[in-house]
Amino acid sequence: MKTEISIDDRITLKNLADGLPSGYPEASIKKLITGLTAQKKFFPPEFSYDDKGSVYFDRFVETSEYYLPQKEIEIFRTYKDDLVELTGNRAIFEVGAGSSKKVAILLEAYNKRYNPVCFYPIDINAAIMMAGARNYLPKLPNVYTNCIAGAYSDVFASKIKPAGTPSLFLLIGSSISQESDDTLLRNIRKQLDIGDMFMISYDLQKDPELLRSAYQNYEASLCSLNVLDHLNDTFGSNFDQGSFEFEVQFNPEHKGCETHLRSKTDQDILFRGLELTVHFDADETVRTGTQRKFDRVEMRSRLENIGFQEVKTFTDADGWYATTLLEAV
Ligand SMILES: C[S@@+](CC[C@H](N)C(=O)[O-])C[C@H]1O[C@@H](n2cnc3c(N)ncnc32)[C@H](O)[C@@H]1O
Repeated sequence: MKTEISIDDRITLKNLADGLPSGYPEASIKKLITGLTAQKKFFPPEFSYDDKGSVYFDRFVETSEYYLPQKEIEIFRTYKDDLVELTGNRAIFEVGAGSSKKVAILLEAYNKRYNPVCFYPIDINAAIMMAGARNYLPKLPNVYTNCIAGAYSDVFASKIKPAGTPSLFLLIGSSISQESDDTLLRNIRKQLDIGDMFMISYDLQKDPELLRSAYQNYEASLCSLNVLDHLNDTFGSNFDQGSFEFEVQFNPEHKGCETHLRSKTDQDILFRGLELTVHFDADETVRTGTQRKFDRVEMRSRLENIGFQEVKTFTDADGWYATTLLEAV
């Protein structure tokens, strides 16, 4: 008789943030200080996803105007069997996994065909990965989840994939939209051996008004305002949510949207934990998120320059969103 292995025996957690006083490595804190002292202020993306922020983000992605997850889910549901066929069974690493709700659609297809299926979600937030695993594992008895919690700078400091194991790295959920350069893509490529695979999902360029309406809503404002509370809790700052206003801006340079908080008054914010005071002029904004939009051909040549060769690109029926499978060469 086949006995099922319990969920607890199919989850592990390696937490690289254990022992770090703020939960963030030096590199993230440096990025934060750069962002706070820049001429155009910004918060690095990893500060948006504390426990509350991750819950707000999951609520935001379910809003009807935010079409991206619907398009990505359509692609995964339509092409999951083709993807499994093209990749075969590999160790699957999801970079910036969050609750892994969407990747669970693909895991279901791997689970049907293979046993064991080894899944490694990577995220700065351990709790959201663990809670996600408890949601999808009961339906996926062949899947083994090994969570890796930490900032990318720490996680990718050494090779994480088991030597000699064919691997598939995923960067989905349009996570690439937040990266200002190729550092993350290059770090992912360094993790891979020739013949390993990489799958990336990204939103395609479209009408600015349509984009703005996808990001301008109450749930998105909660995600942005929550960063202020999270920084207060983590670095002893004195932000007051009431003195900032949420707004969405279209940026013609990257043809995407940016979320900002606009300071309603002239104010000084003291970060006791960082021994830093940051001045905000009235009307000055701090960027809380960047959602770049891409062109398929440009994305292909960008990835080729980093050492990937396209295997196949899938799009939704409207051609709004794309998922590209590649091989490391
Ligand atoms: C846009 S969400 C994507 C979630 C999921 N992949 C999906 O498709 O819905 C990005 C995730 O990446 C994580 N993240 C962002 N920057 C990070 C960093 N520098 N290090 C580790 N995790 C990071 C966040 O915590 C968040 O859960």
